[in-house]
Amino acid sequence: MKPFITLLCLLLASSCTGATSEVDVTELQAQLMVEIERDTRETAPYTGRSELNARVLNAMATVARHDFVDSYGPDAAYANQPLPIGHGQTISQPFIVALMTDLLDPKAEQVVLEIGTGSGYQAAVLATLVKHVYTIEIIPELAASAEKRLADLGYENVSVKAGDGYFGWPEAAPFDGIIVTAVGPDIPASLVAQLKTGAHMVLPVGTQYTAQNLTVVTKQADGGYSTKQVLPVAFVPLTGDH
Ligand SMILES: C[S@@+](CC[C@H](N)C(=O)[O-])C[C@H]1O[C@@H](n2cnc3c(N)ncnc32)[C@H](O)[C@@H]1O
Repeated sequence: MKPFITLLCLLLASSCTGATSEVDVTELQAQLMVEIERDTRETAPYTGRSELNARVLNAMATVARHDFVDSYGPDAAYANQPLPIGHGQTISQPFIVALMTDLLDPKAEQVVLEIGTGSGYQAAVLATLVKHVYTIEIIPELAASAEKRLADLGYENVSVKAGDGYFGWPEAAPFDGIIVTAVGPDIPASLVAQLKTGAHMVLPVGTQYTAQNLTVVTKQADGGYSTKQVLPVAFVPLTGDH
């Protein structure tokens, strides 16, 4: 009888080991990737890109979003939608995370800055693509929980700081790229100043109640910058006293 029980257990590995939920997560993440690729094609008339860089897609397929939204089940974690993360904040829609990451054009040897750590998910995606990620979160509780989560998950190349990201992280500048994941009405001069020449800053520009446009800023050699509006978006506001 014992071998039969062992066999039964192997066949029903789901109930014996919990393997089913891992299979579910793999399938849900694969389905999410299909949706990201579909959204990429559908927004191509705005963004000018019908497919994303393979390294970016690989990062999106590798980083486990359910690790960053523990209070939700896998179905919600891998839905292509933003989710509340507490303190009135959200983790961004996966397609938008993928698009912003792609627009940044990250390279393995680069050092980048993120404003708006939130859950730490965007920072984790970036951490798989670049040498080091600096990320700033204005809500101390979110900064602390994201820092712990990223450390527990083994992301050793991410530095988290609590503070107003509007002023950037001058001690770690200049950066090869900056991502801002909260919306403000202008392009912060302090962040432009911390970009290397030729580097991009990807940020939503607008207000919480009016049109917002995902914008790519490119730093020029003379210290100025060019801008390109990419896509209408909806982000939570960039807060702080700046
Ligand atoms: C859309 S959420 C970011 C999601 C996050 N990137 C993630 O992957 O979970 C925007 C975040 O920006 C933060 N934020 C707003 N204003 C900020 C500021 N001035 N400096 C730093 N963080 C700010 C919010 O508290 C919020 O956590």
